[in-house]
Amino acid sequence: MVNLTNEELKQTIKEIVTVGKGILAADESVKTATKRLVAINTESTEETRRQYRNMILTSPGIEKYILGVILFEETLSQKSNDGVLFPEFLAKLGIVPGIKVDKGLEDINDKDEQITTKGLEGLGERLEEYKKMGCRFAKWRVVYLISKNTPSDEIIEINAQDLARYAKVCQEHGIVPIIEPEVLIDGTHSIDKSEEVNEKVLIKVFEALEEEEVDIKTLILKTSMIISGNQANNRASVDEVAKRTAQLLKKVVPPELPSINFLSGGQTPLEATAHLNRIHTLGKEFPWNVSFSYARALQGPALKVWQGKDENLLAAQKAFIFRAKLNSLATKGKYKEEMEEEV
Ligand code: 13P
Repeated sequence: MVNLTNEELKQTIKEIVTVGKGILAADESVKTATKRLVAINTESTEETRRQYRNMILTSPGIEKYILGVILFEETLSQKSNDGVLFPEFLAKLGIVPGIKVDKGLEDINDKDEQITTKGLEGLGERLEEYKKMGCRFAKWRVVYLISKNTPSDEIIEINAQDLARYAKVCQEHGIVPIIEPEVLIDGTHSIDKSEEVNEKVLIKVFEALEEEEVDIKTLILKTSMIISGNQANNRASVDEVAKRTAQLLKKVVPPELPSINFLSGGQTPLEATAHLNRIHTLGKEFPWNVSFSYARALQGPALKVWQGKDENLLAAQKAFIFRAKLNSLATKGKYKEEMEEEV
């Protein structure tokens, strides 16, 4: 039994970790998907959310750049325009379906920060259901807000433990866990502060994983880059972001981890691609695969073109594939800014 689960985990890692490809995050909750749709003047209903997923997931050629997609629960039982369940549609293309399993953020009343404790209860049973629906990996996101008094040591500790417990339960069920400790870009903080917080967070996370006896070899880290706050003065350059990010990850992430897939976290699509590319042109050797698991940086331009309208579908899919391709090139250090003109 134990061995079978381990074989499943190893096989999934093999399929979702490949140089030159990445993981698409298409797991916006109903609330977040609604925000995305409202921004393009489209009402959010179950059907328009299905159309939104259809637009992205059925983009012709997606499998050339994407080998795993993180889905939201609602999408698991929805179908493409051709009537195929989305997890099945992806699997047929050789793309592994995954699932966001945390239940979102919860406010802590007396502090200027949030915590993601929701979702651990009954997780094992939910994983079994998701597995039946074709999901082979999962994602759990925790966030850390940088402000004068945050993130607190308490939140760093709790989030680390939650991530480790979640990862353990996933592995027991043969589901590869993606852990996402996201240090938010929001704020005026410097790149130094971002580095300090990310270091503290990652150290605690890997300590908790060890205590919980999570197998690092069948786990994926989805993490933030070391970057200035989005409202900071004199934001650090692409070069600086890449250097600091690579340096810190080498310092704190165990070499046996198979893959680091960055989140975009509110970077513009161009920034997210340029940063990833620069990380790969620093001339450093990494023990892990280094790729992307973007949501906004991959989908943003496509949503803008789409505007919820059928007549824009093909052009929107083209915009999505264009970003997927550029990010794929970035994972090999082969992206060039001039390529942005090609679309
Ligand atoms: P962004 O790339 O938009 O940050 O989304 C990644 C993600 O999965 C957030 O949970």
